[in-house]
Amino acid sequence: MPAPILALESLSKRFGSRLVVDHLTLEVAEGEIFGFLGPNGAGKSTTIRMLLSLVHPTSGDAQLFGRSIHTIYPAYLAQVGALVEAPQFYDNLSSLANLKLLARLYPSGTVDEDRCQEVLQLVGLEERAHDRVGIYSHGMRQRLGIAQAILHRPRLLILDEPTTGLDPQGMYEVRHMIRRFARDEGMTVFLSSHLLNEVEQICTSMAVINEGRLMVSGPVMYYFLVLLTDAKPGG
Ligand SMILES: Nc1ncnc2c1ncn2[C@@H]1O[C@H](COP(=O)(O)OP(=O)(O)OP(=O)(O)O)[C@@H](O)[C@H]1O
Ligand SMILES: [Mg+2]
Repeated sequence: MPAPILALESLSKRFGSRLVVDHLTLEVAEGEIFGFLGPNGAGKSTTIRMLLSLVHPTSGDAQLFGRSIHTIYPAYLAQVGALVEAPQFYDNLSSLANLKLLARLYPSGTVDEDRCQEVLQLVGLEERAHDRVGIYSHGMRQRLGIAQAILHRPRLLILDEPTTGLDPQGMYEVRHMIRRFARDEGMTVFLSSHLLNEVEQICTSMAVINEGRLMVSGPVMYYFLVLLTDAKPGG
């Protein structure tokens, strides 16, 4: 069996007296679209922030590409693309200009202007590429957030509630987009959501957390079979 691309090992985070991520252990295999499901305040964003070295864990570990998040210079982050909650941009610049600025952070020659144009096309913003981001709608900013996350062709894409605030058509398009990235660009996707039907529609595996604790995890098909079995009269 290949090593998992992402593995949480009893990962925990305490803020003051509140244990908001409580000994989470789970694995994500390469090629999966993994749904990280939980209600508001369950600890999804905090977990994701720990994976991205934005928040320091209280205890436990997580491995990305076999490298611990306790690594001092987490070079593996170059293989990760992320959208965490509301993305921030230079509002007085266009989306293309924002992406071109970001492209300069990557090693020379890896992200050129063509790639910036390509990702804008992938997220359906090509016609608004020259409009300044300050006038974008919420859904357009969300799409641009996804564009910046995939700009450098990451192996692992981490998306924190990517469809929040989108209208039904926008949700459908973003979900379709995520499936396409996994299929066509070979990305493994880890996405948080509080919508069971979203996870059901696009994910191959899932974990459900509540109050920081893991409730259930496994292939999405298996989870729904369990639900169906439980729902049987007398079952
Ligand atoms: N910096 C912080 N300081 C103190 N408490 C925090 C901090 N960040 C998060 N929390 C708390 O951690 C808990 C989990 O928050 P988190 O944002 O991880 O939840 P979530 O599952 O992402 O929720 P949502 O679906 O609303 O985005 C909440 O009780 C929150 O108040
Ligand atoms: Mg959150």
